[in-house]
Amino acid sequence: MKKLSCGLVVLVTVICLFDVIAAKAEERQSAQMRNLVVYYSYTGNTELAAKTLAEIIKADIIKIEDVDRPSKDKAYKAGKEASIQGKSWPVKPFKTDLSAYDRIFVGCPVWFGMPTPEFNAFVEQVDFSGKQVVVFVTLGGGGYDKAVKSMTEKVAAKGGKVVSSFFIRTKTATKDDIVNKTKEISAQFLPAPAVAR
Ligand SMILES: Cc1cc2nc3c(=O)[nH]c(=O)nc-3n(C[C@H](O)[C@H](O)[C@H](O)COP(=O)(O)O)c2cc1C
Repeated sequence: MKKLSCGLVVLVTVICLFDVIAAKAEERQSAQMRNLVVYYSYTGNTELAAKTLAEIIKADIIKIEDVDRPSKDKAYKAGKEASIQGKSWPVKPFKTDLSAYDRIFVGCPVWFGMPTPEFNAFVEQVDFSGKQVVVFVTLGGGGYDKAVKSMTEKVAAKGGKVVSSFFIRTKTATKDDIVNKTKEISAQFLPAPAVAR
């Protein structure tokens, strides 16, 4: 009986030890994950969400910039055609080396149910091979699924694996609403707390 309880104690101790080692390894991996947030924004909503996200998850952040910012008229006319057809517009060269990051968040507004031409232009410039990618959009009040599907396909075509996506509706949202919603969503991308198991 004494031998059996001794054996049990040893077994439980070994299992606990393995658990602690595994938890530590997981914690190290999450803590070391290097995040980058890349976004395009025409009127500031996506920028607010991107900046909030980057602050919460401690990511570097880069804005995709137009070579010539489109007028409202161009956004609604030529922008409609380009977005729907998945075409791109000239954006400033993207010089950041993505190989320095493990996970890349890419966000833009929804235009006519689709990602903006600037998102398409950014994806054309980069190679996502081996990267985890999270795509996100802000949108007035319409549907986001077509836009997210298009973004997912474009990222996949450049070697990236879209592991998650999210959207934020902005039509009736105040700035505080956008910040609070983004904070709420961002929590899922934080490293899991190191709890003793
Ligand atoms: C040219 C244009 C087209 C838009 N098309 C849509 C749309 O199809 N569906 C939608 O819900 N919102 C649409 N919106 C609203 C934007 O997606 C929404 O306001 C977004 O939050 C803007 O992000 P930004 O401030 O980062 O540019 C459109 C806005 C613009 C300027």
